[in-house]
Amino acid sequence: MTDTTGKVYIVGAGPGDPELLTLKAKRIIESADVIIFADSLVPPEIVAFAKEGAQVVGSKELNLDEIMDLELSSVSEGKIVARVQSGDPAIYGAILEQMRILEENDVDFEIVPGVSAAFAAAAVLKSELTVPEKAQTIIMTRMEGRVAMPEGEQLRDLASHGCTMVIFLSITRMTKVVRELTSSGYTEDTPVAVVYRVGWSDELVIRGTLKDIAAKVRAAKITLQALIIVGDAVDPGLDKGGAVSHLYSADYTHRYRKAASVNGKG
Ligand SMILES: C[S@@+](CC[C@H](N)C(=O)[O-])C[C@H]1O[C@@H](n2cnc3c(N)ncnc32)[C@H](O)[C@@H]1O
Repeated sequence: MTDTTGKVYIVGAGPGDPELLTLKAKRIIESADVIIFADSLVPPEIVAFAKEGAQVVGSKELNLDEIMDLELSSVSEGKIVARVQSGDPAIYGAILEQMRILEENDVDFEIVPGVSAAFAAAAVLKSELTVPEKAQTIIMTRMEGRVAMPEGEQLRDLASHGCTMVIFLSITRMTKVVRELTSSGYTEDTPVAVVYRVGWSDELVIRGTLKDIAAKVRAAKITLQALIIVGDAVDPGLDKGGAVSHLYSADYTHRYRKAASVNGKG
């Protein structure tokens, strides 16, 4: 029978930099009895916060049954389990199947959000992904691979919007990514950045355009753990005279502030 004091936390660990853990994620990692962490994407520094005596297990060589057996048996002993995943668990976190099994077994669980690699990469690029008059939409997606894409979600379909696109899990198919993107909404001179292992000590940023990015990625020999961010939002020259948001503009009135001229100051 399940001990009612046990609980599973599905914890977003952020992109890798321990300082990008939320306070809650750190607290749970520090107090968990069992930590199962995605050791292909989460560095050991993150689980170094575990308390003495905690059982710390890497999950990259385990299958779902093995992971869930460990979670369920630990919870049945009244233990607190931290299932630590990269970035935010809601993005390509494969948590649905875990949650189903936890629910079927009446196990109490909670999800702790984390900083997605997408936003850590935007920070490193010093980019606002939503730029007035250029891109007000962000598409987070992946290239079709072993996982088939639902109808209408092929890269070339999504590219027709020409907005900011953040592409996960696709760095090994860079040439095809570029072909799909340029066959639809983007021109060859569209800015692109590839961010490898953001938040890790060997983080690397490659900037280019859709014309040259595949060759640059090949030359850098990057074959895993990288994001591709496409669109005007990653143009490093964008701040030079482009459109800006009205939000903090002195002559823009909104609920909390009157425009300077309306205030009689302008
Ligand atoms: C299974 S998905 C997990 C995404 C994660 N849930 C997130 O929110 O960032 C793994 C993919 O995310 C991206 N990724 C995860 N961590 C990364 C990092 N530190 N730097 C760059 N890309 C990363 C890569 O595209 C990688 O192939």
